[in-house]
Amino acid sequence: MTDRTQQAQETADIARLEIPSRDKRADLQVMDGTLGPSVIDVRRLYAQTGMFTYDPGFTSTASCESKITFIDGDKGELFYRGYPIEQLAEHSDFMEVSYLLLFGELPTAEQKEQFIHDIIYHTMVHEQISHFFRGFRRDAHPMAVMVGVVGALAAFYHDSTDITDPHQRMVASYRLIAKMPTIAAMAYKYSIGQPFIYPRNDLSYAANFLHMMFAVPCEPYAVNPVLERAMDLIFILHADHEQNASTSTVRLAGSSGANPFACIAAGCASLWGPAHGGANEAALNMLTEIGTVDRIPEYIARAKDKNDPFRLMGFGHRVYKNYDPRAKVLRKMAHEVLDELKVDQPLFDVARELEKIALEDEYFVEKRLYPNVDFYSGIILSAMGFPTSMFTVLFAIARTVGWVAQWNEMIEDPNQKIGRPRQLYTGPTRRDFVPIDQRD
Ligand code: SDX
Repeated sequence: MTDRTQQAQETADIARLEIPSRDKRADLQVMDGTLGPSVIDVRRLYAQTGMFTYDPGFTSTASCESKITFIDGDKGELFYRGYPIEQLAEHSDFMEVSYLLLFGELPTAEQKEQFIHDIIYHTMVHEQISHFFRGFRRDAHPMAVMVGVVGALAAFYHDSTDITDPHQRMVASYRLIAKMPTIAAMAYKYSIGQPFIYPRNDLSYAANFLHMMFAVPCEPYAVNPVLERAMDLIFILHADHEQNASTSTVRLAGSSGANPFACIAAGCASLWGPAHGGANEAALNMLTEIGTVDRIPEYIARAKDKNDPFRLMGFGHRVYKNYDPRAKVLRKMAHEVLDELKVDQPLFDVARELEKIALEDEYFVEKRLYPNVDFYSGIILSAMGFPTSMFTVLFAIARTVGWVAQWNEMIEDPNQKIGRPRQLYTGPTRRDFVPIDQRD
């Protein structure tokens, strides 16, 4: 039993549920966290009432207890292990943030040096893994390649698939963090018919990725330090985000005891959706389709039209009902990257005008829809030279550390068991089979 459940029993703060018409009642424990909403422990609800809770989309459901990331949607706050994302964005780097997410504390200088060494020296993949790519079409979406190749790592690294062994869990975690950029760059190189570029141990995590993405064997490639910093910052901002769809997918897959590579492949699959991590690609495609500022009202009207499935990509969020703090950092960074590259990105003007108009429109104000992490990231990534199809792949690289941190926490949580939701059944009641010659 975790300390939270214990404390709940000590405080005996009870939620009393009564359904007089059905002679049902339940006394349920209230549990408090350190930040954010308290929870009503409904684990005994079915035993006491024979009834389930009903919460499609989990709008009011806590699936677990976690110490990793906290979001306050009303205030627009995001903490990694208690540290505000703005401070980490300004003062930290992705390797240090990865250590923080994995182990819970900022590393000492010695711990950080060792962690960076251990990750950097595992960025190379076995040469045989390059053969996995040969089976894909060159024009395959790189996320399809990521789902395939990351899942296939389980067919390779048999020595780190025993999830009951803490050492093997950490080896798999390090391998995934280290190798995702290499696999991602290989997916890109394969799609453009260029040779794979090997990682370099003398470069930072972010610089190494840019090098593998954009270097060619024919000439030296110097990583632009402004782009290296921008890449590192984008990784920090996308590293973890509480129990979002892809993280919940990783936890649910992991709850059955599935191996870590299969779980992270499942996370990639979920992240790919345009309502989730695929929104950065969709947002840039939307801005491109809008094209010019004068066409913005037409798209705002479509986003508000209930009969039109069109949504403003990069806007809205299940948790944030205020500005996504990551979007604020990215909007500022977009200026810096575009200035550094001396890129005239008209879509940035469209994005800023779209944001301005939307935030003054009563539909968006009333529904508390603000730009999210995906609204500006595409503009930066496009200016940095990434094709739109790679945007969600970059999100997956960054989110891998959050996924493995949450996966490890789930396995170590004594309260966790295989995730197996129930349902509200509204299908046919019992009926007997009808032979085919008697069916009308
Ligand atoms: C990410 O969960 C996370 O933390 C995710 C993420 C992470 O780091 O892991 O933050 C990353 O996925 C960010 C979100 C990226 N997705 C998009 O930008 C896609 C566009 N956004 C929407 O699809 C939507 O806002 C969601 C999916 C993000 C959130 O949807 P919810 O919480 O289920 O909200 P909802 O669909 O119930 O919307 C509430 C209302 C609805 O209108 P009503 O039915 O109440 O009349 O707001 C409307 C929606 O129609 N609405 C939008 C809108 N988003 C919501 N209307 C127009 N444009 C939008 N973008």
